[in-house]
Amino acid sequence: MGRFGILTSGGDCPGLNAVIRGTVLQGETLHDQEFVGYLRGYRGLVYGDVMSLDRGVVRGISSQGGTILGTSRFGPYTEPDGTPDNIKSHMRRLGVDGVIAIGGDGTMAAANRLYEDGIPVVGVPKTIDNDLEATDYTFGFNTAVEIATEAVDRLRTTGNSHKRCMVLEVMGRHAGWIAMFAGTAGGAHAILIPEHPESLEQICEWVRSVQDRGRSPMVVVAEGFTLPDMDEAHSHKGLDGFNRPRLGGIAEILAPLIEEKTGIETRATVLGHIQRGGVPSAWDRVLGTRFGQAVSNMVADGAWGQMVALRGMSVERVPFSEAVGHTKNVPLEQYLGARAIFG
Ligand code: F6P
Repeated sequence: MGRFGILTSGGDCPGLNAVIRGTVLQGETLHDQEFVGYLRGYRGLVYGDVMSLDRGVVRGISSQGGTILGTSRFGPYTEPDGTPDNIKSHMRRLGVDGVIAIGGDGTMAAANRLYEDGIPVVGVPKTIDNDLEATDYTFGFNTAVEIATEAVDRLRTTGNSHKRCMVLEVMGRHAGWIAMFAGTAGGAHAILIPEHPESLEQICEWVRSVQDRGRSPMVVVAEGFTLPDMDEAHSHKGLDGFNRPRLGGIAEILAPLIEEKTGIETRATVLGHIQRGGVPSAWDRVLGTRFGQAVSNMVADGAWGQMVALRGMSVERVPFSEAVGHTKNVPLEQYLGARAIFG
């Protein structure tokens, strides 16, 4: 029973539409729930901007990337109109009894604050980065890993042909899950992640040892990785004698440094938003659907202030406070296990 508003907030992620579909189908079929979709994340909640959402609207959307509701990085408290009173008055006008917020760490932190301000909210965790503490996996991660792994495979053939070192940058500002998984799956010779620093000397040693065996080195780096001494990154004279600017991304900083120090021709690729777009994997559609069904059950039980989470094989409920403000890092032992066979 009741009418609920669904929003998707923060960076988009493959599997969002599966969550929306799972929630609506479960809610209509089992709990006599109705839904509206808030447009463009918390912006829709603050300005009372909605679209209708029912079985007909969600038909066939699980296979679509992105989100049919649109998203934004807009926080509900960042504008003068973003007050609990305003939000509640829009909810009354629209007949909305509670909010289902689908998003990452920032979205869950905002959802927690809304809940503390007396707005009934539940959450669904989302990020391709897989760095949310309270859940073992987030949907979107699997798709991103598949795309990044394909990029490693593709870079390997061109790297081998030219006897070059290839450096691939994947997403992961705070944690290196995508780099770890894609690097391992693609057989990278070095995987560099924000949680566990490595020196330029060590990276070059791995690259040289690969080259010495007659192979073409493959380095996968997460965007949040930094070198202990980033000063070396300011200027670069290529092997061809031309000065090249060092650009913003870590792959573009690393590649010329590796080339300079090893004498091995090196190229950088920044995968960027390609790893967030397009068709979700089957695994992400399944997890998204299960999360959607579980969140509809939570709403039916009035379990506000909580988020769904994957723990082992089960979908469970955890309070927002357990989920926000902590990054789930790649464990040191897992990194060291992979590192043992670098080079
Ligand atoms: O948080 C998910 C994420 O994909 C990060 O890995 C990445 O750093 C960021 O979003 C990119 O955000 P935007 O789409 O706003 O550039």
